[in-house]
Amino acid sequence: MTHKLTLLPGDGIGPEIMAEVKKLIGWLESNNGPRFAITEDHIGGSAYDAYGAPLADETLEKCRTSDAIVMGSVGGPKWDGVDYNLRPEAGLLRLRKELDLFANLRPALVFDALVEASTLKPEIVKGLDILIVRELTGGVYFGEPRGIETLENGERRGFNTQTYTTSEIRRVGRVAFELARKRSNRVTSCEKGNVMESGKLWREEITALHAESYNDVELSHMYADNCAMQLLRNPSQFDVIVTDNLFGDILSDEAAMLTGSLGMLPSASLGAPGVPGLYEPVHGSAPDIAGQGKANPLATILSFSMALRYSLDESDWADAIEKAVQHVLESGIRTADIMADQTRQVSTSGMGDALIEALDTMKAKAA
Ligand code: IPM
Ligand code: MG
Repeated sequence: MTHKLTLLPGDGIGPEIMAEVKKLIGWLESNNGPRFAITEDHIGGSAYDAYGAPLADETLEKCRTSDAIVMGSVGGPKWDGVDYNLRPEAGLLRLRKELDLFANLRPALVFDALVEASTLKPEIVKGLDILIVRELTGGVYFGEPRGIETLENGERRGFNTQTYTTSEIRRVGRVAFELARKRSNRVTSCEKGNVMESGKLWREEITALHAESYNDVELSHMYADNCAMQLLRNPSQFDVIVTDNLFGDILSDEAAMLTGSLGMLPSASLGAPGVPGLYEPVHGSAPDIAGQGKANPLATILSFSMALRYSLDESDWADAIEKAVQHVLESGIRTADIMADQTRQVSTSGMGDALIEALDTMKAKAA
């Protein structure tokens, strides 16, 4: 069986980290692994430059008909002056919205070899394994009305709207409860119901859903600001965190740093059954280091591995890739972002090569 895969490298460091995913795909194909039919296209600023829009209709159709989509990153100062609806980020938001990819899974896992790379004390982060489930197609990212208007007194006023409906809250809540059952069976739901009606509704709906269908799962509620604090104070109290689009954006960057680097965190965005998943690193396009071979490709490689697991039914290969990542880290090979004493710094492609080498070694041992 051949998997239809769309690759969207995007902007900034996107192309160089995607090159390492392609290297890995090449290795899989020549080592009796899964086979892929690959389409590559533009998204973000590169799509704006090529097609005049950050996600062309043709690109969206290619994505819709593939089995999975792997994206690099979008954005950069080059497009700062572009209108909101044509900005690089708008391309990614459109892709998420059009495919209705409402559940964004962001696992923050601390590899033993990277305990020292975290800015937190080793005893706080060792063995950490959290899953943030971020609602991805609602909330203030998409709420109407939105805009910037000029008031009669000449002042300008910027406004956005946070909205959530019962069904939007419940469907992402269900994903969180289901995933918790396969993990440590605990869900923490985060909102700001103390100041926002949408947060109050969020808490009420999650509570009701829990009572109706998931009362075997341990549920707790937390205000999002407290959650941000608790993530630093005692992150291992969490198993699954479910939260809205904006809080999920912020809390997942924070959780990423617990793992040592934003360059380590993958994500999967899932919709209804049968809809292709979108797999992308949590980090952005890092224009300051783009093109220098400094970027860590592991978040994108681990995102590709999530695609194998969640969209392509190839979890054995996902396991192998994750194990290879672990071996590479244990052997002391590091990109700049996760450097520590007594480790060896490699470039973006050096990291990709090390991963291939680890896979070769694993294969030789298994033979
Ligand atoms: C993320 C990013 C995006 C977001 C940007 C690039 C639109 O920060 O995936 O976390 O805000 O969702
Ligand atoms: Mg973000």
